[in-house]
Amino acid sequence: LSINASRGVGRQIPETLFGQFFEEINHAGAGGLWAELVSNRGFEAGGPNTPSNIDPWTIIGDYSIINVSTDRSSCFSRNIIALRMDILCDCPSGGVGVYNPGYWGMNIEQGKTYKVVFYAKSLQPISLTVSLTSSDGTQILASANIESIALPSWTKWELLLNSTGTDHSGRLQLTTTRKGVIWLDQVSAMPTDTYKGHGFRKDLFGMLADLKPRFLRFPGGCFVEGEWLRNAFRWKQTIGSWEERPGHFGDVWMYWTDDGLGYFEFLQLSEDLGAAPVWVFNNGISHNDEVDTSSIIPFVQDVLDSIEFARGPPDSEWGRVRAVMGHPEPFPLQYIAIGNEDCWKPNYRGNYLKFYNAIKDVYPDISLITNCDGSSQPLDHPADLYDFHIYTSANNMFSMAHQFDKTSRFGPKAFVSEYAVTGKDAGTGSLLAALAEGAFLIGLEKNSDVVKMASYAPLFVNSNDRRWNPDAIVFNSWQHFGTPSYWVQQFFSESSGATILPVTTLSNQSLPFIASAITRQSVTDNSYYLRIKIVNFGSNTVNLKMSLIGLGANAVNPSGSTCTTLTSTNLMDENSFATPNKVVPRPCVFTNADINMNVVISPYSFTSY
Ligand code: AHR
Repeated sequence: LSINASRGVGRQIPETLFGQFFEEINHAGAGGLWAELVSNRGFEAGGPNTPSNIDPWTIIGDYSIINVSTDRSSCFSRNIIALRMDILCDCPSGGVGVYNPGYWGMNIEQGKTYKVVFYAKSLQPISLTVSLTSSDGTQILASANIESIALPSWTKWELLLNSTGTDHSGRLQLTTTRKGVIWLDQVSAMPTDTYKGHGFRKDLFGMLADLKPRFLRFPGGCFVEGEWLRNAFRWKQTIGSWEERPGHFGDVWMYWTDDGLGYFEFLQLSEDLGAAPVWVFNNGISHNDEVDTSSIIPFVQDVLDSIEFARGPPDSEWGRVRAVMGHPEPFPLQYIAIGNEDCWKPNYRGNYLKFYNAIKDVYPDISLITNCDGSSQPLDHPADLYDFHIYTSANNMFSMAHQFDKTSRFGPKAFVSEYAVTGKDAGTGSLLAALAEGAFLIGLEKNSDVVKMASYAPLFVNSNDRRWNPDAIVFNSWQHFGTPSYWVQQFFSESSGATILPVTTLSNQSLPFIASAITRQSVTDNSYYLRIKIVNFGSNTVNLKMSLIGLGANAVNPSGSTCTTLTSTNLMDENSFATPNKVVPRPCVFTNADINMNVVISPYSFTSY
């Protein structure tokens, strides 16, 4: 392997090359990164008609002593359903009421503080106990009592509960022993130690931040489209105070979200990650219905409003809403995708052009992304970037390292916004899948003159709701681990913005093998370092002679040189909650770093020097 490190021969990789795609799928946000513990906090998930299903809220006490129903008496006009409890007895000490188990149990931890907020109304004096308990309610972990005179109008309550015990499957209870009628609405419980107090679960945020994403594409995916337009992601319904958000049923991934993680929070998440936001909006097309181009103008205005919300000054109509939410400075929104996977839909091009022209008119600096693939033939419409999605087998993904070798070097650049090995090669996240993806990413680095951005999909999965396999980060209420695909991505966290160097494989054998080399300046001591990445996708050990061309004899510092490898005993090995570190990068022996060196590359491995 010959690496040309001569001055001036490299090419700069785009600053944006490797980012992340966050979709609300697999309870990635609701019951995941978004730290809200209560599910269906406004009782809206059962729909706008009453009586309605209050799931997962559950009644404590039987029908002879408590009747629980829903009515339309909420003080919040956008989410009108409230919970009504008719308590028929002066009940025994345990009390009657309701509990919410959150998303497959709430993670309540000893020593942590939880902020509980709710709204209540009652015609009689209230005596209410609010507690965080064990999964069966028998052990009280944190509790507070509210005694009050009658509250004929809705009153907000805010409590801080300190937990004296731990239960990873806990629940929130609201109970009373006093006869009467109590209405409840907008019940929230959140740990106080979220990332910067922004509502993101710290451990999951940390996993994401460790990948150093240069952009964040959000919020979908199919989630943006919906099976039907009536269930598509509508950004205006997800902003403002949380109590005013109606929530919606995502009918592609089949679950309700209270939309605590809304458009504002996605912009905030991008900022917190130091990633450029990439907003995918609904272009009037869902999986099963479409808005005709002749009627698309209100949708066009809606997306212009969304841009003003992100970028407008605090005295503009929508910029003011953002400022009131606590972010007077604009968010640097520079990338917008016009829909998701809709290229072949009848109204796509018509709608696309309306959006494209209207956005470019007002915001010529924003890069617009089409759903149509421009990698093998020129696009028939204007675009700055084109979306490219690929889910395939491991062998195919490995060969796709060369997918962009023949792409025209002119015209819009590629945004590989979704890629992954899927199916039997991947299981729920195998080494085999990760190695093939690693080879594909090396191919993208090499072709980064035509590929500007790339992100794996999906990013997160709550193990209780695997809607899609595999995923990069697996979690439950309190644990998490990275799949091998996650760890492969870490090898690329320094690539964006680095210089890629020419690499030549000097072998007459065609080996299942691919390598790249990047160089960049160290932020600690300003010296230049080289990162060589190699995927051996074959079953043979490879004895490799590596030469660094264009460097002086003492250019390499052996003691400062390291080697890291990702491999395992079996190709189909996966990580799990029980063995989260089965397939993770590990240091390898590397003592002979020099401008000419011999290295041994293990079968089926990803190695970086
Ligand atoms: O990543 C999962 C899904 O795959 C996305 O929602 C969609 O864009 C693609 O079909």
